[in-house]
Amino acid sequence: MTQATRRYRDLHEHLQVLEKRGLVRTIDRPIDKDSELHPLVRWQFVGGLDEENRKAFLFTNVTDGRGRKYDIPVVVGAIAANPEIYSIGMDAKVEDIQAKWDHAIANPIEPRLVNAAVCHEVVIEGKALQGEGHGLDRLPIPVSTPGFDSAPTLTATNVITRDPETGIQNMGTYRAALKAPDRLVVRMATRVGGAGGYQHYLKYQKRGEPMPCAIVLGCPPYVAFMGPQKLPIGVDEFTVAGGLAGEPINVVRARTVDLLVPADSELVIEGLIDTEYLEPEAPFGESHGHVALEEFNMPMQVTAITHRKKPIIPSYISQVAPSESSVIKRVAYEPLFLSHLRNTLGIRGVKRVSLHEPLTGLLRVIIVTVEKGMSRTEVWRALHGAAFFKADCGKICIAVNEDISADNADALLWAMAYRMNPVEDVQVVPHRGQGHGPKREHDQEEDSTLLMDATMKGDMPPLALPKQEYMERAKAIWTELGFEPLRPQPPWFGYSLGDWLPQWDEAAKRAALGHYLENGLISAKQKRKGLKPETKFRPDKD
Ligand SMILES: Cc1cc2nc3c(=O)[nH]c(=O)nc-3n(C[C@H](O)[C@H](O)[C@H](O)COP(=O)(O)O)c2cc1C
Repeated sequence: MTQATRRYRDLHEHLQVLEKRGLVRTIDRPIDKDSELHPLVRWQFVGGLDEENRKAFLFTNVTDGRGRKYDIPVVVGAIAANPEIYSIGMDAKVEDIQAKWDHAIANPIEPRLVNAAVCHEVVIEGKALQGEGHGLDRLPIPVSTPGFDSAPTLTATNVITRDPETGIQNMGTYRAALKAPDRLVVRMATRVGGAGGYQHYLKYQKRGEPMPCAIVLGCPPYVAFMGPQKLPIGVDEFTVAGGLAGEPINVVRARTVDLLVPADSELVIEGLIDTEYLEPEAPFGESHGHVALEEFNMPMQVTAITHRKKPIIPSYISQVAPSESSVIKRVAYEPLFLSHLRNTLGIRGVKRVSLHEPLTGLLRVIIVTVEKGMSRTEVWRALHGAAFFKADCGKICIAVNEDISADNADALLWAMAYRMNPVEDVQVVPHRGQGHGPKREHDQEEDSTLLMDATMKGDMPPLALPKQEYMERAKAIWTELGFEPLRPQPPWFGYSLGDWLPQWDEAAKRAALGHYLENGLISAKQKRKGLKPETKFRPDKD
């Protein structure tokens, strides 16, 4: 028997690290998974907490709407409540995550097949799954959006399917609604750029066969990160997860379907997806921030549930961004966009690509930060490159310079207001799919793309705030006076935007030292007649 040796962490070990770092809130009081659990975690996203103060929530005493108790804990936020938690899962500093993704994608490692796996410590198969309380309903799966959702729904999934022609597996994070102890309904996006698993479904459907499927909950973080990641079709995500881990990921054969699943995972639901009939699924609060209304999706007959002896069930909080779902995608997608613009398209002046998160939910608005002075044609190449890299991302793309904080919508409006001439710097490009959103994605109704160049087109006068040294001196006085702690909001000091002369710098220094009279003597000598008031004066030229 091949034993599952490994250096990478499983979910249990990852939680221990989070615990040590003070990043877990453990809730031991009874919490109703159907109406209380997600709303409680939601408060850390809508309650005015800073991103860095978000934590994972571990629920050890889960009950349900009917008063039943569950002996399996639930964790929310353990993979990506904020970038710090994600970076712990990645075993890389936040600023190194990008390089780690790039390296793993370029250096994939094949998985290692093992025979003994913790995810098979408990196996429930066939008839044993039937009857209330024996199958899926043994599991404390929460309702995500109480008041709107129609079922407890699996969210922190890695859904594994196999291409029946190439034999290559795909792994995607797709939701699945519980319907019966041995039946659920999976939703795989059918739009261009949607679910890789849907391409497999079409092939099985053509063959007139059901599609084998394994839904994994609680993967080792390196594997969990692969679910939402957008890799080209045909790439087996286990190999990229191996690239992240720097060693092969242990996989084991599922018990009742011909698929390989991560051996070190918490729980696996195996089954066959019906490729003939569809069953209504949802309403469900979606990551585009609206409720997905009822639609026909893929019923799966469960053939086995396997799990480790003491599993923990993860659930992602999604819906309106920011959320765990938006963080996990943001940290994964931004490096892909940056690498596309810089390396594939060779636009070296691109410094950052930011997918706007709050409310818009990442896929709609992209901010491309470029260095000052980059040629206009390169700025436009970057805008087009960002807008059309992925079919369902980048409806609105804005180019800005490095002094504009891409995460600050006020700063973006500021750049658009002062650095953009709409008639020259805005383009609307027709023919875009609707993408992920409340409009039906398959009704053929087109959307379009808005591109905006809000970069500086030349030098501008400085930002009119005191220079950094004066603001810092005043901050020290603020603290000395015992006023409440400050939370500096960029821009909090003035800086040159190119149009500034040494003569003006000197004059400002003299004024700040109380020697403005010297400035008066200088300007007295520069008097002129015959000019209209407000005529510009440049002491370097005149
Ligand atoms: C919490 C969460 C839930 C998601 N739910 C779905 C879903 O129900 N269906 C879907 O097609 N994609 C969903 N996605 C997006 C996919 O995971 C993403 O498009 C990913 O690239 C799919 O992997 P694939 O390209 O291998 O199919 C979800 C992502 C997250 C983070």
